[in-house]
Amino acid sequence: MGRLKVGILISGRGSNMQALIRSCSAPGAPAEIVLVLSNNADAAGLGYAAQAGIPTKVVPHRAFPDRASFDRAMDRELRSAGVELICLAGFMRLLTDEFVAAWRDRMINIHPSLLPAFPGLDTHARALEAGVRFTGCTVHFVRPDMDTGPIIAQAVVPVRPEDTETSLAARVLEQEHRLYPLALRLIAEGRVRVEDERTVVSGAQSPEEPLLNPAG
Ligand code: GRF
Repeated sequence: MGRLKVGILISGRGSNMQALIRSCSAPGAPAEIVLVLSNNADAAGLGYAAQAGIPTKVVPHRAFPDRASFDRAMDRELRSAGVELICLAGFMRLLTDEFVAAWRDRMINIHPSLLPAFPGLDTHARALEAGVRFTGCTVHFVRPDMDTGPIIAQAVVPVRPEDTETSLAARVLEQEHRLYPLALRLIAEGRVRVEDERTVVSGAQSPEEPLLNPAG
């Protein structure tokens, strides 16, 4: 079976994109990154991707009269690159319902909280404000409502009494960089399916996979 062809959508730094690129360059990786696409020509991640030899494309959202035409332009680029799965990695544009429906169960996102807690922006500040003892990150299939959809994998990060938004964000980001490649690998190995809007993961557990169930 060929490797799963992945397109990554970014708007900025692209550190999760880097983690995905690194994991896909490992020998025997079941997925390959065929396109990095950004709505923002200044996204720092584009330079890293180009250096890694990955085709990049900028579709500037401001050049389009509305979201629908912007999304259609992205869709064309993704399809012409042969993309089979989209990974959103810090992509800061809301997607139309049409785009989300066209890529249903073939588009995943990473979010820096234990969803469904703290969807949206400023997650770490809100987690600190709420006084939660644990936070973390979530990889999920994308549905029309922001930061919703069947959860594929989560990693838990304890909140320390002395934590600031910056320190907490840094520890969560470390886990993001482990979790996103893991979730992608599970999908690329054909081990993830959606049943009644829940994901079911099959197959043998590798030493890394307790991340899927930190209590187990
Ligand atoms: C990450 O925290 C990710 O969870 C969120 O946006 C941030 C993107 O960071 N969706 P990077 O561009 O991957 O470094």
